[in-house]
Amino acid sequence: MTPTHYSSVQKFLHWAIALLIFGLVPVAITMTNIGEGELQNRLFELHKSVGLTVLALALARILVRAARGAPGLVEGLPAWQRTAARTSHMALYGLIVLVPVLGWAGTSACCAPVAWFGLLSVTLPISGGMPVGERILSVHVVAAFLLVAVVLVHIGAALHHHFVRRDPTLRRMLPGTGTP
Ligand code: HEM
Ligand code: HEM
Repeated sequence: MTPTHYSSVQKFLHWAIALLIFGLVPVAITMTNIGEGELQNRLFELHKSVGLTVLALALARILVRAARGAPGLVEGLPAWQRTAARTSHMALYGLIVLVPVLGWAGTSACCAPVAWFGLLSVTLPISGGMPVGERILSVHVVAAFLLVAVVLVHIGAALHHHFVRRDPTLRRMLPGTGTP
C-alpha cells in the first residue's frame, strides 16, 4: 500500500545525505585547488571517507524506499511536472550511488589504499594504475557536478511548492511532520 507520509528514517536519511553532500562539494573544490601539502592530504582523506559514508547511507535509503515506498506526489500537478519530479528523484537516487562509487573506484586504481576514516581498509581491486584511475575520476567529477545541478533544480522545485503553490510537499519532508 502507498504510504501517506515519509517515515522518520526516510526523512533522517534525506537530510543527512543532503548535509553531507553540501559539505563534500566545497571540500572537494578546496582540496583540488589549494596545492600540495598536509592540509590537502587531510581534505582528500576527509572527502573520501565522508563520500563513502554518503554511499552507505544512500544504499540504506534505497532499501528503505524499495521496502516502504513513498507518498504519491501532491494532487493537481500538470503532467510535465509529475514526470519531471519522478525523473529527477530517480536521477538523484542514481547519482548519490554512482558519484561515490566512481570516486571509490578511481581512487582505488590510482591512489590506493582507500581507508574509511583510517579505520577500515576498503580499497577495491582495480588495476591499471594512474591512467585508469584518472579517467574514472574525471567521470566522477562530471557526475558530481551533474548531481549539484540536479540538486539545485530540486531545491528550486521544493521552494516553488512551498512558497508559490503553497502545498505540503516541503512540509512533509521536514522532521516532526507526520500523516497530513
Ligand atoms: C556523494 C559523494 C561525493 C561527491 C558529491 C563528490 C564530489 C566531488 C567533486 C565536486 C569533485 C571535483 C572537485 C573539483 O575538481 O573542483 C570531486 C573530486 C574528487 N573526489 Fe569526490 N565526491 C564524492 C565521493 C567521493 C568518494 C567516495 C571518493 C573516494 C573514495 C572521492 C574521491 C575524489 C577524488 C580523488 C577527487 C579528485 C579528482 C581529481 O583530482 O580531479 N569522491 N569529488
Ligand atoms: C544533496 C541534496 C539532496 C538530495 C540528493 C535529495 C534527494 C531527494 C530524493 C531522491 C527525493 C525523493 C524521495 C522519494 O521519493 O523517496 C527527495 C525528496 C524531496 N526533497 Fe530532496 N534532496 C536533496 C536536498 C533537498 C533540499 C535542500 C530540499 C529543500 C530545500 C529538498 C526537498 C525535498 C522535498 C520537499 C522532497 C519530497 C518531494 C515529494 O514528496 O514529492 N531536498 N529528495
